[in-house]
Amino acid sequence: MNNIILIGFMGVGKTEVGKLLAKELKMTYLDTDSVIGTRQGRSIGDIFAKDGEQAFREMETNVLEELKEVKNHVISTGGGMILRPENVKMMKALGPVILLSADPGTVHERLKSLKDRPLLDVPDPRGRIKEILDFRMPIYKKIAEFEVDTSRLSPNDACNRIIGYLRKAK
Ligand code: S3P
Repeated sequence: MNNIILIGFMGVGKTEVGKLLAKELKMTYLDTDSVIGTRQGRSIGDIFAKDGEQAFREMETNVLEELKEVKNHVISTGGGMILRPENVKMMKALGPVILLSADPGTVHERLKSLKDRPLLDVPDPRGRIKEILDFRMPIYKKIAEFEVDTSRLSPNDACNRIIGYLRKAK
């Protein structure tokens, strides 16, 4: 089995759905944010605060480069992984790219109590979510071959939709 690449904004369920997918399909789960956090021995927030966003984006590209040979992995990517064209190329080469999406209100609701999203650590996180989504949504949609809107779906249902799609697409 090829890999499965999950893209999408923060709070759409990439981690939860990705873990379920991996379990269901007997694949290995990998989260690019976790790889970076473990390797750096610090949080993503700390990397953004001390080294800046560009340094983090460089780390994301490095992780993808190292994954070129992996097989049978479900790979959850950070929400901004799609921002660099070279990342997009590498993700597509790894396997089918699936977009998880959610409406801005749902994203805000899911993330409002969490403090680990540096891009949303602003006075008006709701406005910021809308702003970033407006910019990124066309990019996410262009890259992905299948989209699941998780706003009103359980992680299990989202997982089943992806499995259904992949079986049909074979
Ligand atoms: C980011 C999303 C985060 C993390 C970082 C930046 C983004 O990952 O990579 O905070 O630019 O959307 P999740 O999408 O897993 O929350």
